[in-house]
Amino acid sequence: MESDLDWHSAHALLAWQVELGVTEAMCDAPVNRYEAAAEMVAAQASVAAVAATARPQTDDPVAEAQRAAQSARTLDELAAAMTAYDHCELKKGARNLVFCDGTPGARVMIIGEAPGRDEDQQGRPFVGKAGQLLDRMFAAIGIGRDRTGDAALYITNVLPWRPPQNRDPKPDEIAMMQPFLQRHVELAAPDILVVVGNVSCQAVLGKRGITRLRGQWDKAYDRPVLPMVHPAYLLRTPTAKHEAWADLLELQARLKDTPKGKGR
Ligand code: URA
Repeated sequence: MESDLDWHSAHALLAWQVELGVTEAMCDAPVNRYEAAAEMVAAQASVAAVAATARPQTDDPVAEAQRAAQSARTLDELAAAMTAYDHCELKKGARNLVFCDGTPGARVMIIGEAPGRDEDQQGRPFVGKAGQLLDRMFAAIGIGRDRTGDAALYITNVLPWRPPQNRDPKPDEIAMMQPFLQRHVELAAPDILVVVGNVSCQAVLGKRGITRLRGQWDKAYDRPVLPMVHPAYLLRTPTAKHEAWADLLELQARLKDTPKGKGR
């Protein structure tokens, strides 16, 4: 029977039933356990064989991510390498890989945290309410994902798959996707990075405390990095918008002072 449940919800429901003491699934028809036992042994052997082949080839997901990311020579190859990467649990519950939006080679690259429900459905980053605010913010300084040349914008996230119930990404999930993010920056070659929110700040700069770090230039992947608060935070805390506006003006000024194509 088809079900609308995603992997994580189905897993949580099963775990709940086990916790309640359920040990058996009841069927509509009686089962001959003597016949079933032999079938069960054969089935277990074949499941074990399939699991052994499906199991990722390494015990070190970060090292494998580094190898896969470094072997990608183009953004398309990088997206394919991420699609093929099987170590991150989030992939199982996600509908789509959310890789990027906007123009590769844009002077500014925004790094968000992780896709939400809308992004997961559409396979594009920042398409929900927070994304619409993000678009309006950057349009105010003349840049956007649908624009070209110096006005272009490129957008990605630390994690390409939606965490269940939008929970915070776990440190091991960030660690294993970080090599892909670094390669993403190298291949997209922006002049300036903007990290929005704590998760991105942690992944790119190794620091947390975005309300303290925002607006202070830093450096990562050989480029200037501007931390900014996440647009979802601004939706909840409109009084912080004037600080975000100051950060946007700071970005605009830095773009004028930074030679074009420095990231390429
Ligand atoms: N929040 C993010 O950080 N990224 C998205 O793509 C959407 C919401």
